[in-house]
Amino acid sequence: MPTAIITGGTDGIGRALAGTYLERGHEVVIVGTNPEKGKTFEAYGDRARFLQADLSLVTENLRVVQWLTERYPAVDVLILGARFHRSTRVETPDGFESNFALFYLSRYLLGHGLAGLLGRAERAVVLNFGGSGRTGPVRWDDLQLRHDYPGTGALGHGGALCDLLGVHFTEVHPGIPYVMNHPGVVATSFAGEYDTATATFVDRLRTSGKPVAQAVAQILPFLDAPPAPLTAVLEGVRVPTDTPAFDPADAARLHQLTEELLTQRAYPSVIFR
Ligand SMILES: NC(=O)c1ccc[n+]([C@@H]2O[C@H](COP(=O)([O-])OP(=O)(O)OC[C@H]3O[C@@H](n4cnc5c(N)ncnc54)[C@H](OP(=O)(O)O)[C@@H]3O)[C@@H](O)[C@H]2O)c1
Repeated sequence: MPTAIITGGTDGIGRALAGTYLERGHEVVIVGTNPEKGKTFEAYGDRARFLQADLSLVTENLRVVQWLTERYPAVDVLILGARFHRSTRVETPDGFESNFALFYLSRYLLGHGLAGLLGRAERAVVLNFGGSGRTGPVRWDDLQLRHDYPGTGALGHGGALCDLLGVHFTEVHPGIPYVMNHPGVVATSFAGEYDTATATFVDRLRTSGKPVAQAVAQILPFLDAPPAPLTAVLEGVRVPTDTPAFDPADAARLHQLTEELLTQRAYPSVIFR
């Protein structure tokens, strides 16, 4: 039975994609923090499994990789969708800015950590909700956003890092198609902690965004038949990846910086070459 792993599968677009793959007969592992939301797919019995994990922590990502590696011979679909907006800058216990940790580093750790299982699937695909060239620029001298924290714009910065992550991943694992997706504004839960002004704005987005079903319909064709090792999609339209946002030298630079950060924080065994 094909297997799909979906972070952020308890809500929004991730939850809808989980339902899609369950309907197709996949075994689906939904990763999130909220066990109540994890019960959404109980009707599918053992084919839907909820794995509780705080993916903003390095050790939790490593535990998820180990848990999956011990249970599954292969992973067919990996969807990296967990995110949590914060109006105010917060650091995780690992000392990483929270968006950097959840929106970028978790996706780095899960993608590389599960590459072996993805490589064993007949037709694997990774979906990362990145910037698709729309966000950035990368703050090379301030990856942890210590200065002029941009509020919800921190996710945009993470999106730019994810674009570069996709470039590096496909260089290292050319046989595993990687799809980058910016879905536009979608009416989801917009999980996060917001100041009053932002909360009012986000409340509007929760209703005015496009329906989740439309966002799923726009990305599914690219997951079913990825047209290239690295594909970037913006609201259902393929966009070029030969632009500065996908610069291979920047991708290598980010990979090296990420390795250094992990080593500094005593996670040298997590280095992926
Ligand atoms: N919605 C939009 O307009 C929009 C626009 C551009 C890009 N995107 C991207 O699309 C993807 C899906 O977004 P969405 O709006 O559908 O999501 P969402 O409704 O905001 O849900 C966020 C998901 O992330 C999970 N999550 C939050 N913190 C977590 C943590 N520490 N550890 C593990 N899981 C955590 C939540 O699970 P729990 O509640 O179980 O913790 C939830 O399933 C994201 O990558 C987002 O950046 C969305």
